[in-house]
Amino acid sequence: MSFEASVDEYIFRVDAALAKTLPGQRVVPQTLHEAMHYATLNGGKRIRPLLVYATGEVMGVDVALLDAPAVAVELIHAFSLVHDDLPAMDDDDLRRGRPTVHRQFDEATAILAADALQPLAFEVLAGGHTPEHAQQRLAMVRILARACGSLGMTGGQAIDIESEGQRISSERLQMMFEQKTGALIEAAVHMAAALATDASREEHLALAGFARNLGLAFQIRDDLLEIEGNTETIGKSAGSDAANDKATWPAVHGAARAREDCERLYEDGITQLTLFGDRAEPLRVLAHRIVWRED
Ligand code: IPE
Ligand code: IPE
Ligand code: MG
Ligand code: MG
Repeated sequence: MSFEASVDEYIFRVDAALAKTLPGQRVVPQTLHEAMHYATLNGGKRIRPLLVYATGEVMGVDVALLDAPAVAVELIHAFSLVHDDLPAMDDDDLRRGRPTVHRQFDEATAILAADALQPLAFEVLAGGHTPEHAQQRLAMVRILARACGSLGMTGGQAIDIESEGQRISSERLQMMFEQKTGALIEAAVHMAAALATDASREEHLALAGFARNLGLAFQIRDDLLEIEGNTETIGKSAGSDAANDKATWPAVHGAARAREDCERLYEDGITQLTLFGDRAEPLRVLAHRIVWRED
């Protein structure tokens, strides 16, 4: 079956696993748990979990092992979005077509919900009571921890905030993108690859190159959609970057160059997959979906 035909099934699969992972909304403290559900379920393209499943398919990993990294990376992503939208950061009112978490609840609840989503991701990765695949679980914990720390997503977010209203070099802009967005995209691929115990060094390098290109292309498309898309389609406030005087790829390089760079990064990413031949179909399909998306 083509990966395209499996996408909805994988989304259903990760949504079910996420729902099972989150404490019930009636569990005390109820408002905190409601906010965690609100931040995580209902909406979201689930790009990072899909990358876990696609990489796993390419590398022949048992799908049952992929649910933990798929859930974990989406929980970290959800936490990052809740903080990203806070008044102290991007100050956005709309996310996935609904009020942002601090708008729907309040700021304290949003901060705490994100705080609680983060450790939950690592609890899931660490696994149940059996020591099965302990080595691989440890590797995945390390990959995800690094990707969301000060050298990854959080570091990129810090540079993003520091750069508001500033002139920024293209090198620093690229570094910011690689950290704030690329790191989690790369972690999704690397965690699934860590479960493929027979993967060669060349295969790991090819996947790393693919993920790096895709992460950058993804954020450039996000910036372009902010200026070219409309609020209804993207489910967040179009024009928010300009209002905050954000350092974006179109702001630094112009929209035409941003489009070209996005396309080139996509092509380069696909080229990295050559070594896998036809086996790479899931990642090719997903990369196309990510780079040419409308929301
Ligand atoms: C938005 O990510 C934030 C960025 C890192 C650009 P997504 O576009 O994957 O957001 P959802 O999960 O589909 O809402
Ligand atoms: C989001 O970057 C990056 C993270 C949440 C880590 P943006 O601020 O550009 O993303 P949107 O446009 O709000 O989704
Ligand atoms: Mg931001
Ligand atoms: Mg934002």
